[in-house]
Amino acid sequence: MIRLEAADALIAQWTRRHGAARDQLLPLLHMLQEEMGFVDDALVAPIAAAFNLSRADVHGVVTFYHDFRRVPAGRHVVKICRAESCQARGGAAIEAAAAERLGVAMGGTRRDGQVTLEAVYCLGLCAVGPNALVDGRPVARVDAGRLDAIAREIAA
Ligand code: FES
Repeated sequence: MIRLEAADALIAQWTRRHGAARDQLLPLLHMLQEEMGFVDDALVAPIAAAFNLSRADVHGVVTFYHDFRRVPAGRHVVKICRAESCQARGGAAIEAAAAERLGVAMGGTRRDGQVTLEAVYCLGLCAVGPNALVDGRPVARVDAGRLDAIAREIAA
């Protein structure tokens, strides 16, 4: 459970600075995720109240965009590109190999909290795929050797 008082203070600070028009909702959610690591379901009600929206509206936005986490991520986040070019270059096999090598299913966080493995949809590096993103750092031409290097990095 996140610190709700801290989140309430962040929401209040945001609306004082930027207002509470609907177009401020996405920037607020991004800020909350940046500050708190994820957007806890418990924040839906205070955000809805601050923006004079229904809880369903806010919940709909949080769940529509894949970028928003509703639970904390692992200490490392590995994203495997699932978009067309990387898929044509063996992305599905890389996904399966990554899940096996890292010990976690796609979309999940390993039990020890060390790594989250998830999909991403095009990193703009299509010519050098299949690609991954490791803690925000792009890794091109992912193969078994690069997956081993990623696994070692995560274990360190
Ligand atoms: S399709 Fe994977 S980087 Fe563009």
